[in-house]
Amino acid sequence: MAHTVFSPWTDPNAKPLIQFKGVTKRFGDFVAIDDLTLDIYEREFYALLGPSGCGKTTMMRMLAGFETPTEGQIFLGGQDIGAVPPNKRSVNMMFQSYALFPHLSIWENIAFGLKREGKDRAFIADRVQEMLRLTRMEKFAQRKPHQVSGGQRQRVALARSLAKAPKLLLLDEPLGALDKKLREETQFELMDIQEKTGTTFVIVTHDQEEAMTVASRVAVMDHGKVIQVATPDVIYEAPNSVYVADFIGDVNLFRGKAQKRPEPTKETAPQPAPEPPVAAPKAAAPAERVAQPNELGKWLHDKVLHPVLGRREEPQPALPAPTADELSNPVTQAQPPAKAEATEPPAGGIEIHWADGQPKVIATNGDTALDGKEVCLALRPEKIGISKDKPVAPNVLRGKVIDIGYLGNISTYHVELADGLMVKSQVTNTRRISRRDITWEDEVWLSFTATAGVVLEK
Ligand SMILES: Nc1ncnc2c1ncn2[C@@H]1O[C@H](COP(=O)(O)OP(=O)(O)O)[C@@H](O)[C@H]1O
Ligand SMILES: [Mg+2]
Repeated sequence: MAHTVFSPWTDPNAKPLIQFKGVTKRFGDFVAIDDLTLDIYEREFYALLGPSGCGKTTMMRMLAGFETPTEGQIFLGGQDIGAVPPNKRSVNMMFQSYALFPHLSIWENIAFGLKREGKDRAFIADRVQEMLRLTRMEKFAQRKPHQVSGGQRQRVALARSLAKAPKLLLLDEPLGALDKKLREETQFELMDIQEKTGTTFVIVTHDQEEAMTVASRVAVMDHGKVIQVATPDVIYEAPNSVYVADFIGDVNLFRGKAQKRPEPTKETAPQPAPEPPVAAPKAAAPAERVAQPNELGKWLHDKVLHPVLGRREEPQPALPAPTADELSNPVTQAQPPAKAEATEPPAGGIEIHWADGQPKVIATNGDTALDGKEVCLALRPEKIGISKDKPVAPNVLRGKVIDIGYLGNISTYHVELADGLMVKSQVTNTRRISRRDITWEDEVWLSFTATAGVVLEK
């Protein structure tokens, strides 16, 4: 089946719907948004993720027109909207407190904005009906907001925000008031409604799972700056910094000095991976070869050569296709890898000296230009296998189980290594718990492949 991936950000001809160009927002001396440049494309579901106070709401308020940038420009559909008042922008903002009118029926709440615009009765009736249908609230049209549930009120607020068919809908913590289960259901409804209406959504959330679930791309923010913008899988699997790795999900960090490993020779070069059985993401296989400068090359370009060559475009990050190893052994957890893998770790990349007297950690995906630098290997708990028998793997570490978090579907083992570092290994409970053979105080082996983590410069 032909299947096109929605990824306008990889299309050099696509025009962004929203552009921030060098936008700074100050409140007095305080810099709330710091020289922000980013693009958001039509039909995107774009999530702003970051800790409280990092500037998410300020960004939204500038988009909606409630704040003006101190410096820089914001474009909507190619037009500088600096001087356009909020009610003249094709932008609507849905607030955390839905602010429904308590004395008006749900029907009247949805119709409110349209009436104020002076639309005729037939138009309003049609439009409200369409919004009620979209949010599955037809049966409740005549009720007052307090006569429906929290989740339904949320849907009414959404219907009201979409009634005027804005180009852009801003949602600031829209699901904050809902309990976990309802929240998860509503996330899927939101995605469905976004797809049906084709409206561009920008959502603010402090819940990383929510951002990962709904978003086409996630922007991770810190102190008024965007640290990384990428698809959820890239943000998770290939974070560009310790900050992002740590902010999104659980992560183990091995800090230490990088040392270059021997380059692959003919004999040690890994065999090319067989064609993956699943289609790799389109972006993973660029048609032309693009320059892939190493850290030194990037530094040279940015510091020395940019007046001549112009600004360097960071290539759109995409995950590499899985290696043969990853494909043949998708679930390594809890069981030592098969003996067939009993090969020397592949050559190339770097190794990290993270503790005296401990085996170095091998990362064949580490940039050799990091040789001699302090680095950090970020490794997700589910990438670390745990076993009682010593497995054969590029990275094998000994430790003791201190704690086990049992969540039904998954268990997380907290394992203390010889030097005191606590490492988490997460295992899917495909077998009944009574048959689990690893328990507290057990001496165990942790293992992971040479490409399981991401090497980040400190
Ligand atoms: N009107 C304002 N006057 C002064 N400071 C403000 C104003 N609005 C926001 N700030 C400050 O800007 C920072 C970012 O705020 P905000 O955008 O609301 O953060 P977030 O939504 O990410 O939690 C905070 O430190 C906040 O105190
Ligand atoms: Mg906020």
